[in-house]
Amino acid sequence: MAKKKKFSTHMEKEIHEIPDVVLRIIQNYAPVFCERILPDVNELAKLFYECDTVHIAACGTAYHAGLVIGKLMEEHCKIRTKVYIASEFNPLVKSNDIAIVVSQSGETADTVSAMKRMKEYNIPIVALCNVENSTIAKTADWVIPTRAGQEVSVASTKAFIAQVLCGVILVNNIFYSKYGRLLYTKSELLNIPLQATKLLSRKREIKQLAKLHRKTQRIFFLGSGMDAFLAYESALKVKEITYNHCEGYAALEFRHGTMALVDDKTLCVGINTSQEKNDKLNNLMNDVKSRGSKIWNIDLFESGNNLSFVVGAIPSFFFALYLSKEKGNNTDKPRNLTKAVTIE
Ligand code: G6P
Repeated sequence: MAKKKKFSTHMEKEIHEIPDVVLRIIQNYAPVFCERILPDVNELAKLFYECDTVHIAACGTAYHAGLVIGKLMEEHCKIRTKVYIASEFNPLVKSNDIAIVVSQSGETADTVSAMKRMKEYNIPIVALCNVENSTIAKTADWVIPTRAGQEVSVASTKAFIAQVLCGVILVNNIFYSKYGRLLYTKSELLNIPLQATKLLSRKREIKQLAKLHRKTQRIFFLGSGMDAFLAYESALKVKEITYNHCEGYAALEFRHGTMALVDDKTLCVGINTSQEKNDKLNNLMNDVKSRGSKIWNIDLFESGNNLSFVVGAIPSFFFALYLSKEKGNNTDKPRNLTKAVTIE
């Protein structure tokens, strides 16, 4: 029985654990992944940069972490990646491909079944997994434990951030092995826990916002590039525990149809964790506002910080949490859902 300590829900407690979780991951992995490449880690990195395609499969929140990791690998390490919803895993595979699965519980049936396909293709499988003695961890050839600690709340928060950060560190390592220099320095990584702590201090303001939006009918999260994936994850969190209609969109795609749903009972949330002003997102936010929507801009700009996306979902996690509480829902155990879906 995990204790909630001073918090009223496990979810709230788990969000508050994020600064410690990210610091622990950096302390655990940074010496290995960022400064000194151990022989087996080097071997793993080599598998990646010599492969044709990396196939990433996962479900739910872990799928969103997979999208982030895939984008990082492709953009920075120039390795082709394909990211699949595990239940739709039906890839075209070459003999030198490699697979990644991402899972908090390590028991999700759809992901286990995707792994069976990977085994049939006989390609190496790397698991980013939070439960080290789980089926997924035991089935994989390589395991990167995500070290978020036990997560009780059905809606995943700290485990998502841990998956993203472990992906960042893996990509950093591949980049180092390929190009002989780091993509992210240790001090850049060590800024992540500090930024997470700063974001926790915004919870009161977000609580007020959730109160204001108790009766809002539709919520849309909008972001570009990496932030599109944060928008998907934010929307999933809101749906899971508030039962509100909510979707995440790649910002500009929103204009191609879904924009028709915007009215005065809508809230649109723009996410920008990049280092630049996103004029196109700003224009979109102005447009939805002029059509009656309420707007909230989550702008995590910090000069010189290109890792804001790692903790960029924290404001949305708080928003989902407080909106769920406003509605009197059982935040930790939302209706119709379980922590791990073990049936297909
Ligand atoms: C369930 C949970 C989700 C989770 C998904 C994948 O649907 O309700 O919160 O993201 O499974 O779980 P996993 O344990 O594989 O990360």
